[in-house]
Amino acid sequence: MAEHHSDLTEAARRLRAGDLVAFPTETVYGLGGDATAPEAVARIFAAKGRPRFNPLIAHVATPDQARAEGRFTEEAERLATRFWPGPLTLVLPRLPGGAVCDLACAGLASVGLRVPNHPLALALLREVGRPVAAPSANRFGRLSPTRADDVRAELAGAVDLVLDDDRACAIGVESTIVGCLDGAVALLRPGGIAREDVEAALGRRLDEPGTGIAAPGMLASHYAPSAVLRLDAAAFRPGEAALDFGGALGGDALDLSSAGDLREAAANLYRHLRALDAGGPRVIAVAPVPHDGLGAAINDRLRRAAAPRDANPT
Ligand code: TXA
Ligand code: MG
Repeated sequence: MAEHHSDLTEAARRLRAGDLVAFPTETVYGLGGDATAPEAVARIFAAKGRPRFNPLIAHVATPDQARAEGRFTEEAERLATRFWPGPLTLVLPRLPGGAVCDLACAGLASVGLRVPNHPLALALLREVGRPVAAPSANRFGRLSPTRADDVRAELAGAVDLVLDDDRACAIGVESTIVGCLDGAVALLRPGGIAREDVEAALGRRLDEPGTGIAAPGMLASHYAPSAVLRLDAAAFRPGEAALDFGGALGGDALDLSSAGDLREAAANLYRHLRALDAGGPRVIAVAPVPHDGLGAAINDRLRRAAAPRDANPT
């Protein structure tokens, strides 16, 4: 779009120069840096306060760029064909000639790759011409941002440029991560594509993740607001803020989807949690959300947001 053009050129220039640029994707905002430059990747870890054992996803404009970084099995090809561009991250064995640096992969023999489905993100990636490492643009362990203002609130000072887009983040939860390693295809993180849809594309059930290939970033406590979350609440108590689904709690609860639509609920999840948290409640009561389809990703994020903050290994 015309009004974005100069921003886009500047953003691409800055990324190539090693700066950090936050940009919208169809899932959440990413904090981007040149995935081939260890200094830029180190700045991402520092800006987020993220441990370096947790690898970053390399974002690329085309499946061909991804094929230069990771070894695609036939099943990985099938998933890429079906879901890219889109909210799917494939974790694949790293190819020797790949450009993504060791630090972005946290020294692992695998690489996480995604072609996002967002016009501004794709235009930016095309213009940069190399893989862009981009974790969600929040501080480590906090709620993922779905709007430019949320990014500025999270990372003020630590990011060189924030690209604005009012069409941002229609999916609202992070990408589904599928590992295709050692002959297995396993769900490493539920996300914007339902497990059922991944299995339909494969024509078979997903394998159980082995301990070796679990996404190292899947810590028990994550995506945390300041308030404590009380899950599967049947009603809310005096003094509590409330996050509703399908009108179950009623009152002045903020509803993820009054129609009970899981896609709408996913799109609203982080924005509503942020809005409720901003009121400074001690507790947010959360109505039950079904577990099928995108409900798996929503419940996963709610469970992590509700986990005791000392549940993570130090
Ligand atoms: O939707 C998304 O995926 C967003 C947008 C910005 O694209 N990004 C995102 O990145 O959620 P991040 O860094 O917050 O989460 C990336 C996850 C982490 O849990 C990490 O452990 C996992 O991907 N991951 C990345 N590379 C991996 C690898 N080689 N093996 C296993 N897990 C990997
Ligand atoms: Mg994240």
